[in-house]
Amino acid sequence: MRRINIGLLGCGTVGRGFVDLLARERERIRGRDGVDIAVRRILVRDAGKSRPGIDPALFSTSAIDIIDDGCDIIVELVGGIHSAGAFVRRALANGRHVVTANKALLAEAGRELFATAERNHVRIGFEASVCGGIPIIRALRHGLAGDRIESISGILNGTCNYILTRMEQDDLEFDDALRLAQERGFAEADPSLDVGGDDAAQKLRILGELAFGPQVVRMRVHGIADVTRAEVEQARARRGVVRHVATARRAAGGVEMRVERRELPEFHPLAAVRDENNAIVVRGRAVGEMMFQGKGAGSLPTAAAVLSDVIEIASEPNRTRVLT
Ligand SMILES: NC(=O)c1ccc[n+]([C@@H]2O[C@H](COP(=O)([O-])OP(=O)(O)OC[C@H]3O[C@@H](n4cnc5c(N)ncnc54)[C@H](OP(=O)(O)O)[C@@H]3O)[C@@H](O)[C@H]2O)c1
Repeated sequence: MRRINIGLLGCGTVGRGFVDLLARERERIRGRDGVDIAVRRILVRDAGKSRPGIDPALFSTSAIDIIDDGCDIIVELVGGIHSAGAFVRRALANGRHVVTANKALLAEAGRELFATAERNHVRIGFEASVCGGIPIIRALRHGLAGDRIESISGILNGTCNYILTRMEQDDLEFDDALRLAQERGFAEADPSLDVGGDDAAQKLRILGELAFGPQVVRMRVHGIADVTRAEVEQARARRGVVRHVATARRAAGGVEMRVERRELPEFHPLAAVRDENNAIVVRGRAVGEMMFQGKGAGSLPTAAAVLSDVIEIASEPNRTRVLT
């Protein structure tokens, strides 16, 4: 039985979920995958905060102590670009595998980080960075490796979908639906990244690059803040629904990406996706159309995706190609 030590950076929504899920599944993973995964250290900002059920001796406020501590895998769940980027770069330079849920960092610096990982013969797992618990990264990298992807379209932002669903089902104006989303914990106090479309664009960029390569020839990003109740009602009168849809498809010289609200006919597969759920429709030349749907965020769903990357790397630590 090989022991795999994890240096966990961040113990917030997803980090805490990772600790809890690993505690629950550790024995099963030992039996199934032949690896014993243990969290050795945990980075937090406030080491005095109460975190019931976790040994306080694991916590540290020094990222360098943890990254340089000789762990096998660094799991980055701090978020943001600046500090998280510095932590990930240091881990890769130290020859550590990295698992991250950080779509913002990957959208900004993914190519540089993957190149660094390749040079250092380590891997980056990023299943949790797009659509939380839905294994869309693995599907594109492995399951569909034999097919040529023609297009990807999806509902990649749960906050937008929750707001549009509430506008449609409860006859709310945008501001009231946003307030409800904030009260229920589906929207941040500052919702601009979600409702402005940038969060979906970051995820689309990651998916589009996996499916079509890095050359983006056109990118159009439009949010939902100007959707009105009247627009939703008019769509309903035409037997349609308004959804915030992200699409990537091949274009001459590369890939074209769009994030925008669209009126979809009620029989469209994405029209049935409601509330905070996410969904992705992938069209492959050989396979045809496939749909993946589920929870795109949340503590345990996202932690499950993080843990799946940790298991994959722990089971094959010597496979060092980053993207395959
Ligand atoms: N939440 C979701 O449902 C979800 C879904 C998919 C992907 N993600 C991604 O997962 C990542 C983590 O998100 P989250 O929601 O778990 O964040 P979060 O709840 O804000 O937790 C962040 C954690 O990192 C620690 N931290 C932040 N900055 C730090 C710094 N400079 N030094 C040391 N510790 C620091 C915080 O410490 P304290 O606890 O001491 O404050 C906290 O434990 C993000 O990249 C996010 O985009 C999240």
